[in-house]
Parts: sequence; structure tokens; C-alpha cells
Amino acid sequence: MDGNATVRVGVLGYGNVGSALVALVAENGDAIEARTGLRLQVTRVAVKDMSKARAGFDNFTADAMSLVTDPEVDLIVEVIGGLDPARDLVLAALKAGKPVVTGNKELMAASGAELFDAAAKAGVDLLFEAAVAGAIPLMRPLRESLAGDRIQRVLGIVNGTTNFILTRMTESGASFADALAEAQALGYAERDPTADVEGHDAAAKAAIIASLAFGVRVVAGDVYREGISRVTADDIRMAGRLGYVVKLLAVIDAVGGEVAVRVHPAMVPLAHPLAAVRESFNAVFVEGAAAGELMFYGRGAGGRPTASAALGDVIDAAANLRQGTSAGVPGLAVARIRPMDEVHSQYYLSLDVADRPGVLEQVAAAFARHLVSIVQVLQVGMGGEARLVLVTHTALERDMQSTLAELRDLDAVDRVGTLLRVIGAE
Ligand SMILES: NC(=O)c1ccc[n+]([C@@H]2O[C@H](COP(=O)([O-])OP(=O)(O)OC[C@H]3O[C@@H](n4cnc5c(N)ncnc54)[C@H](OP(=O)(O)O)[C@@H]3O)[C@@H](O)[C@H]2O)c1
Repeated sequence: MDGNATVRVGVLGYGNVGSALVALVAENGDAIEARTGLRLQVTRVAVKDMSKARAGFDNFTADAMSLVTDPEVDLIVEVIGGLDPARDLVLAALKAGKPVVTGNKELMAASGAELFDAAAKAGVDLLFEAAVAGAIPLMRPLRESLAGDRIQRVLGIVNGTTNFILTRMTESGASFADALAEAQALGYAERDPTADVEGHDAAAKAAIIASLAFGVRVVAGDVYREGISRVTADDIRMAGRLGYVVKLLAVIDAVGGEVAVRVHPAMVPLAHPLAAVRESFNAVFVEGAAAGELMFYGRGAGGRPTASAALGDVIDAAANLRQGTSAGVPGLAVARIRPMDEVHSQYYLSLDVADRPGVLEQVAAAFARHLVSIVQVLQVGMGGEARLVLVTHTALERDMQSTLAELRDLDAVDRVGTLLRVIGAE
């Protein structure tokens, strides 16, 4: 950094987010300087393929490592994505004493602790607001505004693709396959949608939120995960009749010194604020012991929204660099990650059953044998097509799973349908 307040920024990646970030710095640079006294100057950008035609910038390199170690670059923004080579590049930047801003949830969820150590050793910032829920300020509120509170639970709709698909299934009765095809046609879903629809993307974000909210080490592999590909239009219709909407939720709980982190489709009561989060929007609902309930809502993806979050981090990191300080990195303790078997939930289950006397009693007895009590039963259809829809009181996952196993063996039960957890009704 030179004598005046110019901060020279090197950007790794010029895709959706990288190109939007460079454009935002050009658009808002004067206003940022007037407000903060910092002149941000993007000096170099690294890309993979030098032969692609690009607009909006003209000093590209294919050698990202040379950019990271360039003494003419003060601060690094990593928006390449993935683990390789992003991890090595971020570590090299931190080791060279350069603050890093990243939007890379995979990297933070897999290697957060290692990167925090490197940032702490170098005394520089590692900021990642853009990695979770796009434009929505969440990392900074968790790290700073709520630092004095004790967070008890975080519920998040953190994947816009699945929220779009579930919204379509809810509002037009579309099947999962049709809603996915529509999301793909509109550019909300990738051609290979696995990372979104099977919950991997949400699990990485859940791990990052859990680490920050509770100050413990959680990696993506610690997160129990179920996607939405098995949710049927029928489940959603039935949820509506019972007063719920189906959402893919990240559920992060502090339980007696342990942390439980899971991502799965859930039935949310229509009156819960998360039920109103539609289309590709994201929202994160935080319950603080003192603060009470808070909800953060907005665009969870898209080049400009994500670049806006990254640019906020760039300004913070640049200001700290200028003052020779850093925001500090979260100290991550090691806590037991509570296995899914030991987690408590309410459940929704649909069963196709034979329509004959005594079936309901047999089903109820199976639940009772495993200590799962039923709060609501709905009988739908007649003749060979009878269906029972049940909602339970809060029960232990292990007990619910053994109930399911017994139900599958019952003669009177033709098919055990989707098991959905009911969240936010307690
Ligand atoms: N897009 C979003 O809405 C969004 C939202 C939240 C977070 N994020 C995160 O932001 C990051 C970037 O996402 P994106 O959508 O902008 O990705 P993208 O459009 O695929 O762009 C990736 C960029 O990285 C470059 N790149 C790939 N390998 C490289 C290498 N070895 N060396 C140098 N450059 C390399 C690519 O170069 P070429 O141009 O030559 O291919 C491309 O410019 C990811 O971590 C993503 O998870 C994205």
C-alpha cells in the first residue's frame, strides 16, 4: 500500500462474482473514497482461460500465484471457487501478509480452521461474508453485533435454487422434476443440480454459520444432510392442508455444550417468518438468548448481490490494513457434534394403508412401542387407496427411525412415504 490511501486489489476469478466486483469498484469507487478515505484500485485479475473475450478490465493473468505474491498487490479477493487451487492461493496470500476476502463456501467449510490459523499468524483479515447467503449481511452480525449474546438456534433458507423449486411445487402444484426443469431454464439451477438439490451447498453454508454462531469447529462433513429430490407434490399439498409449507432448512442448534447441524426438507408453520420466504430468496432466522428472534433476508446469489457483500469486506479489510490492524479471526473450540440419531424433532409421515378396521390401531401401537406420540392424524382416500398422514410430538430421531422400520414390516402398510421434520412449531 502506498503513502496515500490507495489499496491495490488483486482479484482471483472473473466469472459472475469477479466481473461484478470489478464493475462495482469502478461504479462506486468515488463514493467509497468520499465515505472511507480509501481509494480501491483493482490492479490485476487472474483467470483460467486467457483466450476468452472479456469486457470491463484489461490486465489479466493466467498465473494466479504470481498475482498473489506480487508486491504491487495489497489485498486479494478469491472468487474462483472450489478447493484446488483456491486453498493454496489463499494460504499463500495470507502467508505473504495480505488480507483475503473470499466468497468460497466450499473452501471455508472444508478448511476454515486452517485458514483462520494462517490469518491469525499473519495478523491480517480473512473475511467471507459473500460465502453464505450472498448479499445478506450475516457473518458480520454473527461475529460483531451478536458477539455479546448467546445464540441458541439458527434456521436458514440458504439455497435459492431449492427454495425456487419448492416455491413452484407449492404454488403451482408442479412435480419436483418439472419445477427443477423450470429452474434450469431460468438459470437458477445448474445442468448438474446435485450440489443444490441434494443439500451439499446448504450443508457447507450450515457448517460456516455453525462455526461462527457457536465458535466451534464444524466442517461440511459434520452436517447431517438430506436433499429435496424425494419431496413429492403430494407431500407439499398435504403440508398445506395441515398448515405448513415445505422448505429446505439448515437447522443449527446449541444443545448442552454440543452442536447439532443438519440440512433437510422441513415443514414450517405458515405463521413462521421463514414460511414467507419465496422464490430464490434466502433468509436466516437467528434466536439469541438476549436478542430474541432476528431474521436476515435477501438475495442469496447472483453476481452483483454477491459482489456487494464481497466489496463490503474489501473495504473493511482495506481500512484495517491501512491502520495495521485486523478484525481478528474467530477462535474455534472443539465441541462434540451431536449425531442425528440423538436429535429431537417433530415429524410428519404419510402411510399408504389397507382400508380395513384396526389398521389405525396397529399403526398407533407401532408408534407407541417406540415412545413416539402422535399429535395429529388425517385419513385421506378410501378403498384400496387409503392414506394416513400423521404428525408426532417431539421425539428422538433414533426412536422415529425404529418406528419407521417397524411400519415397513406391517402387513397393513403398503408404502411408507416421505418422513419430514416439523421445524419452528415448538
Ligand atoms: N455466482 C453466485 O451467485 C455466487 C453466490 C455466492 C457465492 N459464490 C461463490 O463465489 C465464487 C465464484 O463464483 P462464480 O459464480 O463467480 O464462478 P464462475 O462464474 O464459475 O467464475 C470462476 C472464475 O474463476 C476463474 N478460474 C477458474 N480456475 C482458475 C484458476 N486455476 N486460476 C485463475 N482463475 C481461475 C474462471 O476463469 P475463466 O473465466 O477463464 O473460466 C472464472 O473467471 C465461488 O466460490 C462461488 O461459490 C457465487
